[in-house]
Amino acid sequence: MYAIECLDVQKQFRPEGDHPWRRRKEKVTALAGISFTVEEGECFGILGPNGSGKSTLIRLISTLLVPDAGVVRVFGHDVTKAPHEVRRLIHRVSVEASFFKKLSAQENLDYASGLYGLDRMAARQRAQEILLRLGLPKDKIRAPLEEMSRGQQQKVAIARALLTSPTLLLLDEPTTGLDPRSRRDVQEFIEEIRATDRTTIILSTHDMQEAQRLCDRVAIIRGGQFIALDTPTNLAARYGGGNGLEAAFLALSGEDLSLEEELEA
Ligand SMILES: Nc1ncnc2c1ncn2[C@@H]1O[C@H](COP(=O)(O)OP(=O)(O)OP(=O)(O)O)[C@@H](O)[C@H]1O
Ligand SMILES: [Mg+2]
Repeated sequence: MYAIECLDVQKQFRPEGDHPWRRRKEKVTALAGISFTVEEGECFGILGPNGSGKSTLIRLISTLLVPDAGVVRVFGHDVTKAPHEVRRLIHRVSVEASFFKKLSAQENLDYASGLYGLDRMAARQRAQEILLRLGLPKDKIRAPLEEMSRGQQQKVAIARALLTSPTLLLLDEPTTGLDPRSRRDVQEFIEEIRATDRTTIILSTHDMQEAQRLCDRVAIIRGGQFIALDTPTNLAARYGGGNGLEAAFLALSGEDLSLEEELEA
């Protein structure tokens, strides 16, 4: 069984402020027919410019959005027909992570461990270990989340995800906004949980080195379509002219227009 199966997935958004009695604005196509599969235990990367559809795809897989057309299956469960089954298997980390902002990191993590039926004290211990390893100052663990910087809140979101040991971990730009050391620590964690738990991971990032380091395969998305999908090494060799994944990304994401013809051919 595949961890994820996407078949011709499409999603459009109606721009805000679009009222039925006004002339309809053009809809925005966020995903224009995406098909791919992810193997169990794989770390699958999504690279693409701002607005290319990465977060939309991750939200569809996590049942936060419903596709307009096509099918998304997570370990065989259709996200539209069986969202509860899917939610039991996944955990999503994103920059807009939802927390009780007046409560502390510890209280938020206690709440999460309760929801997931974990042993409260063991979970608290493990959360503390993770947070300290990610370099969150000890006195911050009991401070209200609203008093933390964005990067610190991001670390709490990562700790929450790791705590719940999901079967499928959806990481939407997990290291964006983190300082270099924290970024490295998060990347080490991701490698560690892959090695120990065989967790399947979907990871969107703007960091090419991160993709190269962590991902078995990478999809490059542009305008809501996958324009390439392969191992980082193969992408770099095929499109990067021997200058690595970043060169391949720049070529594929529109800097190099001579590639357009090759791709359309
Ligand atoms: N809730 C929404 N309402 C209207 N349009 C939306 C909504 N969410 C996304 N879009 C549009 O869909 C497209 C894809 O957005 P998405 O957030 O998936 O991009 P992204 O690849 O994650 O970008 P970034 O790198 O900036 O995070 C964009 O054109 C965006 O404006
Ligand atoms: Mg995004």
